[in-house]
Amino acid sequence: SVEEIRALRTSHIAEYPDFPVPGVLFRDITPLLRDHAALRAVIRHWISLLPGDIEYVVGTEARGFVLGAPLAYELGAGFIPVRKAGKLPGTPASVSYDLEYGSAVVEIAEGSLPAGARTLVIDDLLATGGTAAATVELVRQFDVDLVGASFLIELEGLGGRDKLPDIPLSVVWSFP
Ligand code: PRP
Ligand code: ADE
Repeated sequence: SVEEIRALRTSHIAEYPDFPVPGVLFRDITPLLRDHAALRAVIRHWISLLPGDIEYVVGTEARGFVLGAPLAYELGAGFIPVRKAGKLPGTPASVSYDLEYGSAVVEIAEGSLPAGARTLVIDDLLATGGTAAATVELVRQFDVDLVGASFLIELEGLGGRDKLPDIPLSVVWSFP
């Protein structure tokens, strides 16, 4: 039920002040991941928020892999990994970006997505939006039909959604 999903936000997301750097309140999803019944309920609820006929789910290393794979599997969609720099063979496309506690480079493999494919970008968490915006920039190079971006958690105070204009957004849980 909706109440059960709401309660899991408190019971299954842990908080660590000043991790990984001072001033950041880290939201840890591992209590959710280790509880099969809870994770299953959350994945099912998450799917109910998504647009139909998704052909590809794009998830960003590393936590976007853990949640993106079961989402894609349940949706009957393919899963496309966006990886941190230096992990993908061939000639990947790269984008550098800033996130809440640092900066990084993400990459996608050549030929990952067919033009026009109904594609969803997902991640565990939307903070400043740097990671998601970089992932969207990579995905858009393929001229796909970007049907949405979706997150387990949104940290509303960090303004991440302002970096994703014109993309339908959905989130399971928001923190102010
Ligand atoms: C975390 C999180 C998101 C990103 C959100 O990833 O999983 O991808 O930060 O922050 P932003 O909205 O400010 O960009 P992290 O780079 O820590 O990598 P991980 O998934 O490997 O833990
Ligand atoms: N990624 C970026 N900011 C984060 C936070 N506060 N908690 C967990 N993951 C994050």
